[in-house]
Amino acid sequence: MNLRQALTLGRELLKLHNSPSYFIDAQVLLSKVTGLDRTGLLLKEEVVLTDEQQQQYKNLLDRRAWGEPVAYLTGSKEFMGLDFVVSPAVLIPRPDTELMVETALAFLQSQGEGACLAADVGTGSGAIAVSLANYLPGLQVYAIDLSPDALAIAGQNAILHQVDRRVTLLQGNLLQPISLELSGRLNVITANLPYIPSGEIAGLMSDVKDYEPHLALDGGCDGLDLYRLFLPQAYNLLKPGGLLLMEIGPGQGEAAKKMLPEERWQAEIKLDLACRERLVVAQRK
Ligand SMILES: C[S@@+](CC[C@H](N)C(=O)[O-])C[C@H]1O[C@@H](n2cnc3c(N)ncnc32)[C@H](O)[C@@H]1O
Repeated sequence: MNLRQALTLGRELLKLHNSPSYFIDAQVLLSKVTGLDRTGLLLKEEVVLTDEQQQQYKNLLDRRAWGEPVAYLTGSKEFMGLDFVVSPAVLIPRPDTELMVETALAFLQSQGEGACLAADVGTGSGAIAVSLANYLPGLQVYAIDLSPDALAIAGQNAILHQVDRRVTLLQGNLLQPISLELSGRLNVITANLPYIPSGEIAGLMSDVKDYEPHLALDGGCDGLDLYRLFLPQAYNLLKPGGLLLMEIGPGQGEAAKKMLPEERWQAEIKLDLACRERLVVAQRK
C-alpha cells in the first residue's frame, strides 16, 4: 500500500465510523507513522509503507475509530504556536484557552518589567504556564496541580520549551502549595479548573468523557465549586491591581460574577471567537 492509498483508506474508514474530523485525522495519523508532514505525504504519495508502518497505521486508525482523541494517539497537541506533550493524564489543551493566555500576556506586558510573578492553578499539561513563560522571558510561574501524573507531563513541556528554570511545579490543592510569603505579590493568577457541572458529564461527547481525566472536567454541582473555594486564596496572593483569569463555560458568566464581590474585584466576562462566555477577567482592587 502506498501513501496515497493509505490516506484514502484511512479517510474512508474514519468516515464510516462518523469521525467528524476524518479528513485531517487520517493525515495526522499517517504523518505520525511515517514522520512526514502534510507536504511530504503529498510529494511522496507513491512511496510504499513498510509492513511495520502499515500495522502501526491500522492500529492507530482502529483506536481513532473507537473514539480515542487524535492528540492522545500522537502524544502531542499544538497550543499558542507551541507543541505540547500530552497523555491521558492531562486534558488536551483547547484553542479556546488561548484567550486566557493572550489576555494574561497583554496585561503583564502593559505592567512593564516589574510584573514577573504568576501562578497557574490546575496546570494539567502546563499549556498555560509554559506558554506564559515562553513568551515572557522575565516571568516566574508557579504551576500547580492535584495530579502528580499531570505535573510530570507539565515538567516535560517546561523542559521541551526550555522554561523549566522559571516554571516551578507544585503538587497540591488549588493555591495551597504557594508559600504565604508570596501573599500580595503575584501579578497574575490563571485558572482553568474543571467547570463542567457534575450532572452534565454523562452527556459529553464520548472522546471527552471516555478518554479525558474526570479530575480535569468535573466542577461539582453548578460547575463552579472549585472556583468558589479558591477565590479567597487568589485574593490574598494577588497584589492590588493584579489580574485573576478564570476559564468558564457558556452560561456561567452571571454566576461567576456573583462570586466576585464589587468591593474586592473589578470583573468582566470575555467571549470566545464563537461569542460564548469563556473567560472571567477580574482585577483585584
Ligand atoms: C480543565 S483542566 C486544565 C488543564 C490545563 N490548564 C489546560 O488549560 O489545558 C483542569 C486541571 O485541574 C486539575 N485539578 C482538579 N482539581 C484540582 C484541585 N483541587 N487543585 C489543583 N488542581 C486541580 C486537574 O488535574 C486538571 O489538570
